[in-house]
Amino acid sequence: MKVTLSHIHKRFGAVHANNDISINVEGGTIFGLLGENGAGKSTLMKVLSGFFAADSGEIKLNDQVVSLSSPADALEKGIGMLHQDPLDVPPMRLLENFMMGVRGFLQPRRTAESSFRELCQAFDFDLDPHAFVHDLSVGERQQLEIVRLLWLGVETLILDEPTTGISAPQKEKLFATLHQLAADGKSIIFVSHKLEDVEVLCSEVAVLRQGVLVGQQNAPIDPAGLVKMMFVQEVNLEERLNVDLGSTFLQVQDATMSDLRLKMEGVTLDVKAGEVIGLAGLEGSGQQLLMQACAGLHRIDKGAIVVGGQTLSGRPYQEWLNAGVAFMPADRMAEGLVPGLSIAEHHVLTRYRRDQEQDKKTIDWPLFRKHSQEKITEFNIKGFVDSTVESLSGGNQQRALLSLLPKKLRLLIMEHPTRGLDIESVLYIWGKLLKRRQDGTAIIFSSADLDEVFQYSDRIVVCFGGQITAVLNTSETSVEQLGYLIAGKQPPADLREENV
Ligand SMILES: Nc1ncnc2c1ncn2[C@@H]1O[C@H](COP(=O)(O)OP(=O)(O)OP(=O)(O)O)[C@@H](O)[C@H]1O
Ligand SMILES: [Mg+2]
Repeated sequence: MKVTLSHIHKRFGAVHANNDISINVEGGTIFGLLGENGAGKSTLMKVLSGFFAADSGEIKLNDQVVSLSSPADALEKGIGMLHQDPLDVPPMRLLENFMMGVRGFLQPRRTAESSFRELCQAFDFDLDPHAFVHDLSVGERQQLEIVRLLWLGVETLILDEPTTGISAPQKEKLFATLHQLAADGKSIIFVSHKLEDVEVLCSEVAVLRQGVLVGQQNAPIDPAGLVKMMFVQEVNLEERLNVDLGSTFLQVQDATMSDLRLKMEGVTLDVKAGEVIGLAGLEGSGQQLLMQACAGLHRIDKGAIVVGGQTLSGRPYQEWLNAGVAFMPADRMAEGLVPGLSIAEHHVLTRYRRDQEQDKKTIDWPLFRKHSQEKITEFNIKGFVDSTVESLSGGNQQRALLSLLPKKLRLLIMEHPTRGLDIESVLYIWGKLLKRRQDGTAIIFSSADLDEVFQYSDRIVVCFGGQITAVLNTSETSVEQLGYLIAGKQPPADLREENV
């Protein structure tokens, strides 16, 4: 299906999120949409999928002008969108979510279930139709949405940053499937911050900046040229400072931990002050459980977790906070931020005890507004002190979350810290995180992006099937070796020798 957007305008109050944008996507191609955080990518795609009405402009499908009054209407016309933050219903089962949006007649559950299984198999997605959505990771919820939209028969598939939460092999599988779908004549629009993804996948790329279409490229894609289009300033890699590691700050001692899906036994790990640990592994291999346990958010069944010399396992969460432990979750809207509250209100929530004068009985709004404004400037958040967090773009929500972290911390645990950030912000945020090491803060983070794991960790901890299967010094490890370990295999001997 050929998709044509002409002269699309969309404003939110003073923000001109889409300013006269025209693009054309031919049937059977994969079209890339790039741009810095807040550039207007999600807005444009929400206009195309019936989620927002454009202020003006025209949408054509196969050269016919259409009006898309709602997402259901767009779906009926063959346009489906995988949203940046999944739009599923967590208290329901996967199969029930999968069957949502089927119109006109009641689809028998059995047929739905076998289609579900077939699609999952085609994509190599390990999803149980009878499990509940709230037990899934962000990456798995994205997978559920993909199979749902395909089942509904979309002809144009929009994916808004689909690779931020999935592992490398899953990504490869996804890309193969997208190529196959394009070969079948479907149009794919792929929104991303990852140039390397766009490079291998797309035959055409458009770049947005501050609501305006600033350039387009056909394959072969020239990444350097795209970076220049995306950002006004040049992006510079900061030199990584070597920090002397302090004494051991976190000790996980022969711990057993479990949730509904996974049991990890005999987990042992020491982390020094100032050290950065990157967790690598397939989605659901235990990284999440391990991080939650180390943050004091998940009670361990056996063993001990010692933080700064104190055994904190089994102790109330407030004691973990007092010890200087902080956790940043992957699902920023469900676990990190509070939808409906403004940036300033978030600062009141997180900093009230620290910043407010003790004898003042009411909230000191001028003070918190001032603090919020300082953070907005410091983290370059595109928004205002009174902006609600859901009105921010995905990347700006992530910055807002990062800006709430306390200044003084001993142990910072982060799931996918730079998910959805543009390249410039990733460098900036890591610059700030690495500076914390100089004050002796230990950092543990997970990422689906192996480059990020390699670039920023001192040591890499590999999880597979609920076990820590390797602890590696980053400088002595190659990407190939790590690939094998993540997949649960031993690297071949020649690879091992090379790096000893
Ligand atoms: N519902 C809304 N209400 C008010 N402003 C909004 C709303 N949705 C988006 N905006 C604003 O429109 C601008 C473009 O946002 P959009 O979500 O389209 O950016 P994006 O390119 O997808 O960015 P990111 O890479 O961070 O996801 C931002 O300034 C954002 O704050
Ligand atoms: Mg977006």
